[in-house]
Amino acid sequence: MCGIIGFKGQGKVTDQLVEGLKRMEYRGYDSWGVAALTKNGIFLEKKVGAIGEGKLSRPPADATMGIAHTRWATHGGVTQENAHPHASSDGRFVVAQNGIVENYLELKAMLTKVGYQFKTPTDTEVIVHLIHHRLKQASSFREAVRQAFLKLAGRNTIIVLDQQTKSIVAVRNGSPLVLGHLPKGVLLASDTLPLAGKAETVTYIDDMQLVVVDGDVSFYDVKTGRTLHPKRQKLDLVEQKVDKEGYDHFMLKEIVEQQHTVVEAASYSEKELVPLVAALKHARNIYTIGSGTASYAAGQVAYFLRTIALLPAQELRAYEVDSYLPFFDSHDLLIVVSQSGETADTLEAVRKAQIERVKIASIVNMIGSTLSRISDYPYFSRSGPEICVVSTKAYTAQIVWGYLLAMTYAGRFELAQKRIHALAKQLKTYFQPKTFTTIKKLIPELEKDQHLFVLGKGQHFYTGFESALKLKETVYMHCESFSAGELKHGVITLIKKGTPVFGILGDDQYKNDLLVALAEVRARGAKTIGIAAENNEFFDLHVPTPDGGDLDVITKVVPCQLLSYFLAVHLGNNPDKPRNLAKSVTVK
Ligand code: F6R
Repeated sequence: MCGIIGFKGQGKVTDQLVEGLKRMEYRGYDSWGVAALTKNGIFLEKKVGAIGEGKLSRPPADATMGIAHTRWATHGGVTQENAHPHASSDGRFVVAQNGIVENYLELKAMLTKVGYQFKTPTDTEVIVHLIHHRLKQASSFREAVRQAFLKLAGRNTIIVLDQQTKSIVAVRNGSPLVLGHLPKGVLLASDTLPLAGKAETVTYIDDMQLVVVDGDVSFYDVKTGRTLHPKRQKLDLVEQKVDKEGYDHFMLKEIVEQQHTVVEAASYSEKELVPLVAALKHARNIYTIGSGTASYAAGQVAYFLRTIALLPAQELRAYEVDSYLPFFDSHDLLIVVSQSGETADTLEAVRKAQIERVKIASIVNMIGSTLSRISDYPYFSRSGPEICVVSTKAYTAQIVWGYLLAMTYAGRFELAQKRIHALAKQLKTYFQPKTFTTIKKLIPELEKDQHLFVLGKGQHFYTGFESALKLKETVYMHCESFSAGELKHGVITLIKKGTPVFGILGDDQYKNDLLVALAEVRARGAKTIGIAAENNEFFDLHVPTPDGGDLDVITKVVPCQLLSYFLAVHLGNNPDKPRNLAKSVTVK
C-alpha cells in the first residue's frame, strides 16, 4: 500500500527518492511521483505504472530536499493527475498522503464554499487546500500543517514539502513513518527497508507526532504543538539485496527459501521463549489473531497450543474482534501474527485489546514495525524481506514459531528443534525440478475451471484455507476451502461433473474422514486431487508430498503454493503483484 519517502542530504535528491521508492515497491502501488525543492521552485513529476528504471524526464541537479510517494488508489482512478504529490494552487508546497481522509466530503464542501476549486476526486487534494486555508491565519507553516491535520478523520500519515520555509513537514497517525539519521542528512520512509545500509540510527515517529526537517530536525506533539524529544534507536537491519536471484518471480524464490526460513523462525533459545511461556501459564484466556494469511497462521498457532501445550487457545479475526472486547481483561494474552506488523485491521484490534489491558505477544517479520514496538512480548519470524505481495515464507515461519512455542511450553524444546531441522531437510529435497514438473502437470487439469474446492480437517483445516487463498490471489479463480466435516451440511450441492476437489491428507486420525469425503464427491462426478504422502484409490490425481509429521501443515501447504505460482504464470498473471492487492494493508 502507499509508500512515503522524504530526503534531505547529500547526493542527487531525485535519485535518492526513487531508490527509496524502489525499496518499497513490494508494498504494492499503481502510480508514483517525486517532488524536489530546487532554486527555481518545486520540481514535480508523476507517473502511472511501474517505477522500472525510475527515469524522470528532467531531474534537477540542484535539488536540496524532496518527497516521493507510491500510490495504491482509493479515492479516484489510477491516473497521473491523481498520483501524489499534489501541489497547492499557488505552487508553494506539495503533499503526499498514506491513508484515507474519512471526512473528506465534509471538508471538501467547506473548502469549496470558501472558494477552493478541486482538480481531482482524491482525498489528498482536500489536505492540500486545508493546509493552504490554515496558512492564512497560522503563525507558521508547521502550525498550518498541524492545524489542518487535526481536522482530518481517519488514519493518515502525510508528508509536505514547502518551498518558502525550505522544509519537509510530516505527520503520522496510523500509517507508519520512520526517520533515518544519515551521516549527513535524513531519510524518512514508511518502513525501515529503505533505511537499511544507510541509517545506523532511526527515530520511530509515533501516532500524532509531527516532524520538521529544515536546517535541523525537530519533533512535536500534534495535539498540543509542544516540542518532543523522541529516542533515537539503533537500526538492527542488515541491508538485503532485493533481487530475484535468477528466479523469474519473487514468489518462487520465496517459496524455495522456506527450506531456510523455517529454521530461522525457530532460531530462538529456550531462554528467550521463557517470558512468553510464563505469560501463557498465567493467562486466563489465550487468543491468537491476525488478518488474511496471518489469521490462518494465527489459527494454526492456536491449534498447536491446544493440541501440544493443552492450552485452550482460540483464534480471532482481527476485523471481528469487537464482540470479544467486553470479555477481555488484564489476565488475558493476545498472540498477534503479522508479516508487516503494520496491518491496519490487526493494529486496531491490538489497540482495542490494550485499552482492556490485555497483554500482547507478537510474531512479526518486519523489524521496527509498529506491532513489535507496542508488544509486551515481541518475537520475529526472521524470514528476510518478503517482496511478493502474496505471503508464503512468512506464513510457514509464523507456524514454525508457534510450534516451537507450544513444544517449549510442553517441555519439548529440543525435540521441536530436531523436527524443524528435519523439516528443512525434507523441503530441500522437495524443491527439485522433478517436483516442479509434477505440479505443472496439474495445469491442464485446472486451467479452465471456474470453481475449485479444497477439503482439510484437524491439523489441515487452516492448510486448506491458506491453499485456497493462494489460488484466489494469484489465479483469480473461485476457490473455497471447507472442513471435510462440513461437506454433507450443505457444501456438497456445489459439486458437479468435473469439479476439481483437493483433499489435504496427513497420516493422522482425520485421514479416513478425508478419504470418505473424497469418495462422496467423486461419486457425484468431482475430479479428486489428493495432496498426500501416499497415493490412494480415491484420488483421480495425486500430488505426492513428504509426510511432515508434526509439521505436516508445512509440507502440505508448499505444493499448493507452488501450484498457485505455476498456474498463475501459465495464465499470464504476475504472481508477485496480483491485481488490486497491496502488500502492506495500512488502511482499513
Ligand atoms: C495473503 C496476504 C494477506 C496478508 C494480510 C495480513 O497472501 O499476504 O492476506 O497476510 O494482509 O498482512 P500482515 O501479515 O502483514 O499483517
